[in-house]
Amino acid sequence: MDIARTPATPDGNPEMADAAPAPAAPPEIYRKDYRPFAWAVPATHLDFALGLEETEVTAKIEVARNPAAAPDPVLRLNGDGLELVSLAVDGAPFDGHAMDGNDLLITLPGNQHRVTIVTRVKPAENSQLMGLYASNGMLCTQCEAEGFRRITFFPDRPDVLSTYTVRMKGPKDRFPVLLSNGDRVRAGEDGATHWAEWHDPWPKPSYLFALVAGDLVALEDRFTTMTGRDVSLAIWVRADDLPRTRHAMEALKKAMRWDEEVFGREYDLGVFNIVAVGDFNMGAMENKGLNIFNTKYVLADPETATDGDYDGIEGVIAHEYFHNWSGNRVTCRDWFQLSLKEGFTVLRDQLFSQDMNSPAVKRIEDVRVLRSVQFPEDSGPLAHPIRPESFREISNFYTPTVYNKGAEVIRMMRTLAGPERFRAGTDLYFARHDGEAATCEDFVAAMEEGAGLDLARFRRWYSQAGTPRVRVEFAVADGRARLDLSQETPATPGQPVKEPVPIPLAVALHDRERNALGEERLIVLDEASASFDLGPAPQRPALSLNRGFSAPIAVEREVDPEELAYLARHDDDPFARYEAMQDLVVAHLLARAMGGEDAAGEDAIAEAFASVLGDPGIDDLMRGELMLLPGIAYLMEQVLLADPGALFTAREGLKAALGRRLSQPLASLHARASDVPFAMDASAKGARKVKSLALTLIAAADPARAAEMAATQYDGADNMTDRQGALMVLTGLPGAERTARLLDFYTRFRTNALVIDKWFSLQASSLHPQVLAHVRALADHPDFTLKNPNRVRALYMAFAGTPQGFHAPSGEGYRLIADLILALDPLNAQTAARFVPMLGRWRRIEPARAALMRGQLERIAAAPRLSRDTYEQVTRSLS
Ligand code: TRP
Ligand code: ZN
Repeated sequence: MDIARTPATPDGNPEMADAAPAPAAPPEIYRKDYRPFAWAVPATHLDFALGLEETEVTAKIEVARNPAAAPDPVLRLNGDGLELVSLAVDGAPFDGHAMDGNDLLITLPGNQHRVTIVTRVKPAENSQLMGLYASNGMLCTQCEAEGFRRITFFPDRPDVLSTYTVRMKGPKDRFPVLLSNGDRVRAGEDGATHWAEWHDPWPKPSYLFALVAGDLVALEDRFTTMTGRDVSLAIWVRADDLPRTRHAMEALKKAMRWDEEVFGREYDLGVFNIVAVGDFNMGAMENKGLNIFNTKYVLADPETATDGDYDGIEGVIAHEYFHNWSGNRVTCRDWFQLSLKEGFTVLRDQLFSQDMNSPAVKRIEDVRVLRSVQFPEDSGPLAHPIRPESFREISNFYTPTVYNKGAEVIRMMRTLAGPERFRAGTDLYFARHDGEAATCEDFVAAMEEGAGLDLARFRRWYSQAGTPRVRVEFAVADGRARLDLSQETPATPGQPVKEPVPIPLAVALHDRERNALGEERLIVLDEASASFDLGPAPQRPALSLNRGFSAPIAVEREVDPEELAYLARHDDDPFARYEAMQDLVVAHLLARAMGGEDAAGEDAIAEAFASVLGDPGIDDLMRGELMLLPGIAYLMEQVLLADPGALFTAREGLKAALGRRLSQPLASLHARASDVPFAMDASAKGARKVKSLALTLIAAADPARAAEMAATQYDGADNMTDRQGALMVLTGLPGAERTARLLDFYTRFRTNALVIDKWFSLQASSLHPQVLAHVRALADHPDFTLKNPNRVRALYMAFAGTPQGFHAPSGEGYRLIADLILALDPLNAQTAARFVPMLGRWRRIEPARAALMRGQLERIAAAPRLSRDTYEQVTRSLS
């Protein structure tokens, strides 16, 4: 019997970090190089002898030559940091294998074989949280994108689909609950040990494999599908957390019903399990029949979760559930097609949340996220098309571009086709590709045929990076309204020249004289430039453009502030109304940041705000949207070289002016909202939203008064939304109220990790002048650990969003984030690499700060033994 040992990789075992340096430049992988795998894997049997310190995995995989691929006698199995214990082919020990880097190569003589592989892994030492790892005494897995290779040697690529049978055994006391994909088919016990066998009848790629073993309890429920099949639902958590699972379960049932009604998609197993895990790199994972979630997206009750948390849970529960069709039944051929499942599934969860809540407010929120996170990505060094052409580390491509811009691209197809024809397109896509690993091209082709669209040019949205800029000239000639549009997409890395893309624009003309709202029509700009006749022009027309944000573009237009003020007050499209308000404020803030006064702008904004505060025609959720000033990230996007300090000062200045000028109506809004008793309906949620927003404006004008109001709001709070809103204001205001309430918050919630995350986050994102020093001190707090991604993000992601902290002119903020990246990289490369884009923005920032940011990137790049993840992000950010 041959016992081979492959070198352990540095990750998962910090002490081994010196033993296995990563190569200087990890190879770049290209979409054009895709080849089908030479072998099919019809069946996979996994047997786990579970232990936190050590788990032994026996994998029996049945392989057969793939007639659709070029023949190759070599079976290439991916591995990563595995200890190979033994290897057999067709039951006989096999020692003819070779290693190619981390891959195990086995030359097979025949057309069909059974390969048996025994590996050992160390879950408790796995700090990367990829593969099999320990979290709070339980064992769980994360295999997307390439984590399965950290469990056993396997063709770890999404186009190899296999049927899995999983057996696991372990100590009953430590792991009373044993879960995997599909249905439990057998179970038994043997003294202190017990075992279970699970079978998933649906062929799937390895990235959808999951296993959980631990001391868990479940909230159980049932769901009857559209064809009358009965499904057992369970949400598994630690016993203390059980009272906080109701909302997630309700969201799950709503999502299951909605997917039947809106997309015709029915669930396809007898069981649907969700497990909540405290240590998780991302939000959640759609493993077939066994979704694994970050606790953040499962646990909620009014005392510990905000309204935002509730919405986040509903959205992510739906997102992962929807993957059962868009991702699992139809999966991706290769990782370049990631947006096929992610863009589409994000659109599906957005439409679901629009239907469950206020559609207008949800749309505005989604656009805000897109423009503050994806637009900066698209205009920076990490810009990539929604279907990238190459990567070194696929984890780096789970981006706002692939997810959120991907969703916008599919939403445009829906806008062009209309909901019914769009549904015909998705029906055809699911029918045609069920059980397959498909491509973005397959989706577009099905949409063309099923929805009856010509998408020849539209395909450019998949291949081109960058946000198209649309220049708008609006004119009235001979009594008719004319729109002259031209588009240009700026150059992005590797793509110097761009083609025009089809841009669907929903437009309407309003008559300001008669206060008449015009009818909406859809025009499509699919050339570099074009003119559109919008019909007879009203007396004083107001142009409402890109209504509903019908295309993910940046509009360039000189608009008369009066026209904007009119739209901000009267437009019937909620997004367009919000947008008019944003445009009004952006123009003013840019003038202010450049040292101008712009008293007229301030007047116009104050008037618009006053009318928003007093408008009985809108609900408070919408009022809150209209009261939100554009964020710093969005403002920085509006200029070629941003001075974050000046923009911050301008924004705070406007807040103070509004707080001063509207102190009366803001105070009465706060008072009115404070009288609304706690409930989870839209009007009570809206009241909570405007309540804390009013407080932030008052705080900028009159800190002492706001501190008192916030302390009262905090002390009287019967829910986390009010409490957090008040504490957020207090953390920015030095003084006794701040210290006392922060201490109260900590002691009140010290045993609840998710709330302690908020405690870190609130301090790290505060307006306090000493925020940098606070973050340094918090990093030494006994509750801080680099091992938990939620905690790391709570402290450092929050900090990286503060203009006055992260962008401190001294460069200390940049150094702090670079230090974090270097310290975290050996422990959790995926999470470390996610901080690099913050520093990567240097090209769009004024020269003094840019040099400091670049200096930190260079310091990271010079470090020995960077992970593939961080290496790729840093080198791309510097180039
Ligand atoms: N597919 C997951 C989603 O729903 C994303 C995900 C979860 C992920 N965990 C991951 C991606 C770890 C990469 C690595 O969007
Ligand atoms: Zn997803």
